[in-house]
Amino acid sequence: MKLTGNSLAVLAAAAALPLTASAASSGSGPDKDGKYWIRAKGIEASFIPYGASISNLFINDRYGIQRDLVGGFDNATYYGIDKQHPHFGGVPGRYANRIKNSTFVIDGKTYHTPPNENPTKAAPNGSDTLHGGPDGWDWRNFTVSAHTATSITFSIVDPDGKEGFPGEVVSHITYTVQENQWDFKMVALATTKKTPIMLSSHTYWNLDGYANNETQTALNHTLHLPYSGQRVDVDGFLIPTGDILANKKNTANDFWSQPKQLGKGFQQSGIKENCGNNCTGFDTCYLVNRDALGPFDWRTEGPVASLSSPWSGIHLDVYSDQTAFQVYSCNGQNGTLALKKTQGLHNNKHFPRTIPKYGCLVMEVEDWIDGINNPEWGRKQIWGPDDGPYVVQASYRFSIDGKKKSS
Ligand SMILES: *[C@@H]1O[C@H](CO)[C@@H](O)[C@H](O)[C@H]1NC(C)=O
Ligand SMILES: *[C@@H]1O[C@H](CO)[C@@H](O)[C@H](O)[C@H]1NC(C)=O
Ligand SMILES: *[C@@H]1O[C@H](CO)[C@@H](O)[C@H](O)[C@H]1NC(C)=O
Ligand SMILES: *[C@@H]1O[C@H](CO)[C@@H](O)[C@H](O)[C@H]1NC(C)=O
Ligand SMILES: *[C@@H]1O[C@H](CO)[C@@H](O)[C@H](O)[C@H]1NC(C)=O
Ligand SMILES: *[C@@H]1O[C@H](CO)[C@@H](O)[C@H](O)[C@H]1NC(C)=O
Ligand SMILES: *[C@@H]1O[C@H](CO)[C@@H](O)[C@H](O)[C@H]1NC(C)=O
Ligand SMILES: *[C@@H]1O[C@H](CO)[C@@H](O)[C@H](O)[C@H]1NC(C)=O
Repeated sequence: MKLTGNSLAVLAAAAALPLTASAASSGSGPDKDGKYWIRAKGIEASFIPYGASISNLFINDRYGIQRDLVGGFDNATYYGIDKQHPHFGGVPGRYANRIKNSTFVIDGKTYHTPPNENPTKAAPNGSDTLHGGPDGWDWRNFTVSAHTATSITFSIVDPDGKEGFPGEVVSHITYTVQENQWDFKMVALATTKKTPIMLSSHTYWNLDGYANNETQTALNHTLHLPYSGQRVDVDGFLIPTGDILANKKNTANDFWSQPKQLGKGFQQSGIKENCGNNCTGFDTCYLVNRDALGPFDWRTEGPVASLSSPWSGIHLDVYSDQTAFQVYSCNGQNGTLALKKTQGLHNNKHFPRTIPKYGCLVMEVEDWIDGINNPEWGRKQIWGPDDGPYVVQASYRFSIDGKKKSS
């Protein structure tokens, strides 16, 4: 892919990013599997150009053993070959999650995006557009525009009209690591026309790295969403209805009143059909309600979510500047996706080397889903050349439960 000069320069200035060839070559190149590595104390992570995806994330467990906590494939080549395309660790774009009826309106003009989900008799190609369409950003190879020992930046130029979206969008995705911490900053600029933009990181987590010899599911993981007393109401295709619902205490979607094991949620009311037609589990957009609590610094106050596993002892705090948090409990997994070499148990007849149903948790920092079709919410999701860059940021901080946090 060619990066066009002008728009890139504007965005690079906005993002304060280096774009010179020397900056790009200061990290080592990809390894034999096509993966680019960054490292700091207590953390090693790899990324690939396909979808600007995270591919490995090594963190030490409570015994000091490295665990690979994220879903992915063994090599970069296989991402484009696998038929399931689980959006493994990629950046869904230019508009994450679902667009109702694959349609939106800007300044009175109606736009159609190609549908790629939920085919019906009336809509044989699909009823909505998921994650930017059948050739959304996480189906394409980004350009590596900078790589150092501790950071990598991927860039993409999404042309006018691609997947039905108006105008060109230029974006930089920067991942960095420091001691026990992984951060990202995604910036995007609509250079020519007004268009919807919403980005996220679609990372699959299993804090045991599938090495737990009692369970390969994530149902023993404990989740806390302290600001998420509400969620977006959805229909059977997971399309927002426009309503906002209360997550009543002690029901399935109550992760705010106290930390809760995911498995416990499956015993509480509201879990049936909670993730769409015939689906038991979570695939839910929780709101992050903290504006009313006064000014805050998202980097130091929060976290918006915490996830921990008693087996590995690994505790993850997610900090973010976003106002919603999507949680998917891998309800659609069925044991057909292979684990990476770096994960799982070997020669254990109870646990095949695949991802089981409920074997992971996808957690996406984002804005309110399908806000473009729910103008009554008042979300800013349409970005044009006169707007500053769209920005989404998150920080994933790791510690061991029961041990004093470093720093
Ligand atoms: C890439 O990974 C896939 C899936 O693990 C595997 O089937 C394939 O043999 C690997 N290819 C190479 C060249 O290593
Ligand atoms: C993306 O790059 C991989 C190599 O890492 C290559 O095998 C694949 O064909 C490329 N895919 C596209 C869509 O360009
Ligand atoms: C969905 O979009 C199509 C055009 O693609 C339109 O004909 C139809 O009326 C829309 N349906 C609803 C329910 O809005
Ligand atoms: C459905 O997809 C096919 C193949 O991509 C295309 O030819 C057809 O026009 C599409 N139909 C609708 C109603 O979008
Ligand atoms: C799991 O592994 C631990 C430590 O190696 C061992 O003590 C335990 O017996 C194993 N449990 C099962 C169910 O295999
Ligand atoms: C739910 O599953 C049942 C049995 O598989 C099927 O008959 C029914 O049509 C499904 N309902 C929906 C809304 O998909
Ligand atoms: C998982 O949780 C169940 C109770 O929910 C508990 O009995 C079991 O020991 C836990 N296993 C691990 C490995 O944490
Ligand atoms: C498992 O799920 C995938 C993706 O939804 C699907 O393509 C595949 O047919 C399913 N396999 C089985 C055995 O259910």
